[in-house]
Amino acid sequence: MPLTELHHPVVDHWITRLRDRRTRPDEFRVICKRLTWFLVIEATRDLPTVVHEVETPLERHAGRALDADLVVVPILRAGLGMLEAVTDMFPKIAVGYVGLERDHTTAMASTYYCKLPEVRDRVVLVVDPMLATGGSAGAAVEMLRKAGARDVRLLSMVAAPEGVRALEKRFPDLKIVTAALDRELNDSKYILPGLGDFGDRLYGTGDTLL
Ligand code: PRP
Ligand code: URA
Repeated sequence: MPLTELHHPVVDHWITRLRDRRTRPDEFRVICKRLTWFLVIEATRDLPTVVHEVETPLERHAGRALDADLVVVPILRAGLGMLEAVTDMFPKIAVGYVGLERDHTTAMASTYYCKLPEVRDRVVLVVDPMLATGGSAGAAVEMLRKAGARDVRLLSMVAAPEGVRALEKRFPDLKIVTAALDRELNDSKYILPGLGDFGDRLYGTGDTLL
């Protein structure tokens, strides 16, 4: 499945503010939520709808209502920064959690938590802002596939070509939507130009407040 990169001046504006090392966690969190709305809109573009009749103040109107059961799965912890934008948009959405952490030396992700609702016959939105090697997102998708999910869509803020290629090879039908497809990974498997460690910048841990 092809990658979709958002091309939108407002997205470019806010992603640049995220990249700026001077952007502090309070502002970073607000921008993250704003950008997630754009990703959600793109990732759900093809959701089915049914006719839904309403009375406007003037006449009867055959409108549309969404006809899909949805699940959102934030990858802890940085994915939590994207969760509220999704639950605002879809108040009835079920929420699953996958906890994954990359080892700082090897960049290999290991799982420390997994709690999923029913995912069979549902549209599953995996939210994780950084797609670097693809190890974390790949592990989450694997868990979802094992749980019976067929329609999985990955929403990321910034993706590296290496991670996109790895996921495309492993899951050819995975839909990936990203706000920015960056240049490459560095030797430590961080995305360039990137924005640093998303979780640290979101929550003010690490050396992000320098
Ligand atoms: C970050 C990010 C992704 C992962 C991407 O999480 O939020 O989950 O790295 O890297 P990958 O594509 O190479 O797996 P991290 O492991 O730093 O954990 P955190 O969200 O708890 O900070
Ligand atoms: N995780 C991050 O938070 N940033 C990167 O650049 C790569 C992985």
